Amino acid sequence: MKDSGMRCSTAGMIGSIDNVSRPLFLDVKHYMEIPPFLGGRFLQVLCHKMSNRKIYFLLGVHAEMIKLDNVSMAYDNGVTALSNVSLNIAKGEFVFLVGTSGAGKTTLIKLIYREECPTTGQVLFDSKNTARLKGKEIPMLRRRIGMVFQDFRLLSQKTVNENVAFTLKIAGIRQKEIRKTVPSVLKRVGLEHKADMIPARLSGGEQQKVCIARAIVNRPPLIIADEPTGNLDPATSWEIMKLFIDINRRGTTVLVATHAWDIVNQMKRRIISLSGRGVIREGVREASAL
Ligand SMILES: Nc1ncnc2c1ncn2[C@@H]1O[C@H](COP(=O)(O)OP(=O)(O)O)[C@@H](O)[C@H]1O
Ligand SMILES: [Mg+2]
Repeated sequence: MKDSGMRCSTAGMIGSIDNVSRPLFLDVKHYMEIPPFLGGRFLQVLCHKMSNRKIYFLLGVHAEMIKLDNVSMAYDNGVTALSNVSLNIAKGEFVFLVGTSGAGKTTLIKLIYREECPTTGQVLFDSKNTARLKGKEIPMLRRRIGMVFQDFRLLSQKTVNENVAFTLKIAGIRQKEIRKTVPSVLKRVGLEHKADMIPARLSGGEQQKVCIARAIVNRPPLIIADEPTGNLDPATSWEIMKLFIDINRRGTTVLVATHAWDIVNQMKRRIISLSGRGVIREGVREASAL
């Protein structure tokens, strides 16, 4: 796989623009890091290839949301899950995180969620080193991240409505507001007619939609999904991925760890590939080619 050449170092930024050597897709958004003295933000550009010349349209300037700087992570038992991983995710991006089982995807997600701290290196969320967060700052960070898991993790004794409302309750939102918000979010995921059911009465796909509703109801700026379609059939998996696309279109940053190669290949989004304990490759090509 050729490096995209788009996520360039500060020094090489201008020079590497013309060195992009891969097919470009009109509907793919790219991000280029610009020097820290310009704010360390990202240029969001649209690339169009015309008779061997690449034309760049500036779509906007996006602030960085997540930065991993030379991160290594070893668990207490001595297993190195990630080594020397550096990456940036800008606000508003949609990113697939791919890699074989054991490649470190869940570990990377736990680092962003501050469930773990790196052994070496730094994880920055909105420019703050997450290892330095104290007391209430950790739940505040987590409130900014909507999590979706492969195994749903719904409250089995509560209805769909109550599961989604729970997120708002613990965030201290008033009942009146909760009663107004929950139905509109259930409608967004197509489950307004199942509001009073308990999770056991729903299909896997429907349960995952409840999880997505629960993750977005508090309007977090970031949604992270860890293998969200791992237990679902291909058609349902597409429905779930389309919900993530819709969420991203409305401005939320989305990070999806997945094994669903066929979907990743067709969606032509940014891919971060973890392999061999943290060797990162990037691209928007077919995941199998990474
Ligand atoms: N809590 C843990 N303690 C020890 N080793 C772990 C723990 N969690 C994950 N690992 C190990 O770290 C490596 C990466 O795991 P993980 O991040 O779960 O990968 P993935 O999500 O890509 O399958 C694996 O070798 C796994 O066995
Ligand atoms: Mg995992």
